[in-house]
Amino acid sequence: METVTESIYDYPKYYDLVFGTDCAAELKFIEACAGAYARVPVRRMFEPACGTGRLLFHLARRGYEVGGIDLNRRAVQFCNERLARRGYEDTVEVGDMAAFRQRRKWDVAFNTINSFRHLTSEAEAEAHFQCMARTIRKGGLYLLGIHLTPTKVPPSDTESWAARRGHLSINTHLWPLERNRRRRVERFGIRFDVRSPTKQLRIEDELVLRSYTAPQMQRLLDRNEAWEVVETFDFAYDLAAPIDVDASSEDVVYVLRRT
Ligand SMILES: C[S@@+](CC[C@H](N)C(=O)[O-])C[C@H]1O[C@@H](n2cnc3c(N)ncnc32)[C@H](O)[C@@H]1O
Repeated sequence: METVTESIYDYPKYYDLVFGTDCAAELKFIEACAGAYARVPVRRMFEPACGTGRLLFHLARRGYEVGGIDLNRRAVQFCNERLARRGYEDTVEVGDMAAFRQRRKWDVAFNTINSFRHLTSEAEAEAHFQCMARTIRKGGLYLLGIHLTPTKVPPSDTESWAARRGHLSINTHLWPLERNRRRRVERFGIRFDVRSPTKQLRIEDELVLRSYTAPQMQRLLDRNEAWEVVETFDFAYDLAAPIDVDASSEDVVYVLRRT
């Protein structure tokens, strides 16, 4: 099998298969939160670090006006081409989630699988919240999903899963390389094993993410007065089962409302 060491984000078709096959729970959750917590009518949905737009595309199909930004040009192109192919506006732009402006305000934003942790410093994280505060209408929401570093129980470890579409199948393996609590850096190895009748390719990459314990995240949120935490959930995405975030919490979605 040919092996390349490259960013998995440079392979949007494969990324979208690996992460995009099971979006139903996330979509239902986003819409349910909009109905339960937003204080404005929700017609426009925005995703910072939207990648291939695996969620935006389905929301466009459900009648929302959608938009997003991502640093990766290939992901943005993939996202826009899919939107345009199905007759929706190709509204997604290349942009940095710590330094962007939108021409019009949006009602609800979401960022569900750790993309926020790509921001490497507290200054970037704060800049992101400020950009988001300019982007979302008062009374609108920002649903922010991240894996916290638990301090009372060991963090979860290696993960492997498989995805298939037609003749294309991808086995994904994710494993921790380093967890540096002092520097607040976690490094993970990630591998896509791609198989189709004409191709066998292994893509190896390293994900470098900033870490947050529950108190570190709380302090960051407390400093950002434009946002109030109205509820917290885990990645079961069950609106009937909110959670209390504590030292054992790992996967958390913060429902933030623009004050
Ligand atoms: C785990 S993917 C998530 C993509 C999408 N949100 C999803 O749920 O499938 C993380 C994305 O963050 C993007 N990204 C990383 N740093 C970024 C930044 N500073 N600004 C915008 N996008 C960024 C990457 O290009 C990648 O597409």
